[in-house]
Amino acid sequence: MIDQLDAEPLPRPSAEALAHSDQMRTRILEAIEARGGTIRFQEFMDLVLYAPGLGYYSAGAAKFGPAGDFVTAPEISDIFAECLATGFARVLKTTRGDIVELGAGSGSLAAGLLRALQARDVLPGRYRIVEVSADLRERQRRFIAENAPAMINRVEWLDAPPAVIDGVIIANEVLDALPVERFRVTDTNGEYLGVSSRDRDLHWTSLPADERLLRQLDLIAEALGSRLPVGYVSEWCPRLPPLVADLSSRLRRGLLMFVDYGLPRRQLYHPQRDRGSLICHYRHRAHTDPFLYPGLQDISTWVDFTSVAESAAGVGLILDGFTTQAHFLIDAGLPEPQARAGSDPRSRMELSRQVGVLTLPGEMGERFKVMAFSRDWEGRLPGLTGTDLSGSL
Ligand SMILES: C[S@@+](CC[C@H](N)C(=O)[O-])C[C@H]1O[C@@H](n2cnc3c(N)ncnc32)[C@H](O)[C@@H]1O
Repeated sequence: MIDQLDAEPLPRPSAEALAHSDQMRTRILEAIEARGGTIRFQEFMDLVLYAPGLGYYSAGAAKFGPAGDFVTAPEISDIFAECLATGFARVLKTTRGDIVELGAGSGSLAAGLLRALQARDVLPGRYRIVEVSADLRERQRRFIAENAPAMINRVEWLDAPPAVIDGVIIANEVLDALPVERFRVTDTNGEYLGVSSRDRDLHWTSLPADERLLRQLDLIAEALGSRLPVGYVSEWCPRLPPLVADLSSRLRRGLLMFVDYGLPRRQLYHPQRDRGSLICHYRHRAHTDPFLYPGLQDISTWVDFTSVAESAAGVGLILDGFTTQAHFLIDAGLPEPQARAGSDPRSRMELSRQVGVLTLPGEMGERFKVMAFSRDWEGRLPGLTGTDLSGSL
């Protein structure tokens, strides 16, 4: 996703989409009433993204690609999957394992990786997709059957990651889609920003801090070397550490990789970043109002990569590297458009555009990071042999 904020008004949803959003709103209002008038933002975000049959990821919205709300790296170009495949092939050769992909979206990374690995003659035993959305599972199945038909029999869908994993675990833009808590710093310490309603309209409401929020504020202060200023608003993702620790503990031999937009903790909570990183996407427009069109738009936040590193290291994984997407792709052998597209000027131009979107600093190149860990696998992963930002964590 690329998230320059848009000043343009958002396109109006169809009558059918508005009716769907109204149903979603009713579901949120029920939850608010059941909790006595206010829900925490994490619960709100969980509902609008994942409520069965209604949430953004669970229901039938287009989501990905030109007809949807945002585009992710595997959809911009197969080059992304090909660069990942260079390193994954090495891991698969020695572990003879599987690939486990968390949150596979439209299925384009799965199809791209399977094709690229087949070309290298190093296919995973199985390609196992852990996907929470039933709607997306179906789309992934169709997409892979169409785009990597010879490999569809290797693909399986799971409700939870396998207990023991040898091979590769990959999650592209999944951590940013986990529900978060929102908070504000007060003169006494901090408070949650929860969600209430008036006449079916949703609005922010303060809720008292608890031990978890106070601990999070302490962690941030430790990283910054000072406390956040009063009035500072941001988010944190309580589900991230258990998810990363759980995946890490299942990896017996091989590689765990996250690609996402995010920063080390002390940069993510820089005092100047005082409105947080919450970002909403609707039909390729980015804005910051999560209460607009509930169920029709994506909501995400930037990832605290220090938290990712701490959680994986806590269960014994070795940090292999942390770098920008641009550095990773270039180091992993990003092809020269000229060499790849031959002499056809249109193909060359299209490839140059794709490479630009994936690597330029104002596009995905710097905002997106790649973080990889391993267990019982030693080797230099293509993509991580150059610039390493681990020291900034
Ligand atoms: C922003 S999309 C990214 C999709 C895809 N990886 C891509 O890059 O195009 C987030 C994906 O994560 C999935 N997801 C969210 N939470 C998840 C979880 N706890 N376990 C597995 N998948 C999850 C969503 O259903 C969706 O497929």
